[in-house]
Amino acid sequence: MSQEAIPSLGGYSEAALDQAFAALAHEVEASAQSLTSAEAVEAFRLHWLGRKQGRLKSISDAWLKSAPVEAKKLIGQRFNQLKAQIESRLESATGASSQNALDAEAIDITLPGTHRALGAEHPLIKTMHEMVAVFQRMGYSVGVGPEVETDFYNFESLNFPPGHPARDTQDTLVVANQERKPLRDRLLMRTHTSPVQIRTMEQQPPPVRIVIPGKVHRNDAADATHSPIFHQIEGLCVDIDVTFSDLKGTLDHAMKEFFGSSVKTRFFPSFFPFTEPSADVQISCPFCGGKGCRKCKHSGWIELLGCGMVDPAVFGFVQQKQPAYDPKKISGFAFGMGVDRIAMMKYGISDISLLYSGDARFLEQFA
Ligand code: PHE
Repeated sequence: MSQEAIPSLGGYSEAALDQAFAALAHEVEASAQSLTSAEAVEAFRLHWLGRKQGRLKSISDAWLKSAPVEAKKLIGQRFNQLKAQIESRLESATGASSQNALDAEAIDITLPGTHRALGAEHPLIKTMHEMVAVFQRMGYSVGVGPEVETDFYNFESLNFPPGHPARDTQDTLVVANQERKPLRDRLLMRTHTSPVQIRTMEQQPPPVRIVIPGKVHRNDAADATHSPIFHQIEGLCVDIDVTFSDLKGTLDHAMKEFFGSSVKTRFFPSFFPFTEPSADVQISCPFCGGKGCRKCKHSGWIELLGCGMVDPAVFGFVQQKQPAYDPKKISGFAFGMGVDRIAMMKYGISDISLLYSGDARFLEQFA
């Protein structure tokens, strides 16, 4: 809106004044025609009501200055009316323009929402959680320990003395440049979750009922069923009068919970330095019911875990920190199972490396 000239008054009679103000009212209406944006409304406000340059002020200054005293009141009243008219125009325009702004921002509820892809558990972790939950329902709690372990916890305290041949079956990566340390303090990647048995018992007196899920490392050549990194779930139960039948009953129940109530278990003599006696546990094939199929290599049975009664020598190592582990007073059992094998069996995965490849096409099948 450009600055227009100030109209002149045709006299001070009421009729002349009414005519002059009618022309101004008309002008206000004309300039209030397209107040659809906030900018237009502000321009209109400045044009008419601007404190210094506003048209209303310039006109009233011009008209009032030269007016005779008796006309000033009449002129003033008409200016007030005009101002009210401008303000009412402003008010409705402001409402309208903010309504426009609201309309522009309004949510279109017919649009599809923002899709957030949900994550899912990795099949290994899922298997681990499910198995741990089986033992939690039997009153077990969950323990953890370091993946970088000392020779003492990984081997010596589990009754693998230095040079013992059983160490050769669990070859692993060792941290370099530790020759100056005594053997027992040297660091290596743990080969099983069993060191957490010792760490747990050192921390608390019996009774202990604990499961320890975790990652382990071995110097195994990778093939379809071997990976140098894999996962185990360890179990340890120590109390007064814990017997081999408790071990059998616990594992039989756990396998039925996990694989289905028709699954049977059987125990074979085995050897681990830290359990005596030791056993390997087989379950009847949950896929063919024991008839023989590809998954059980047509034998009807699948070997799943190692276990045994805690060797008194292991309690001997723990007693250095927790005297309550007196092998004459307490006893216990331990077991360890490979999570990867169980997950592969459960989901029909034929190559262990798929579990570690991070290939989304593989993982999406479990989401
Ligand atoms: N730690 C043994 C292994 O990795 C498994 C095991 C655990 C055996 C507990 C007996 C008791 O082979």
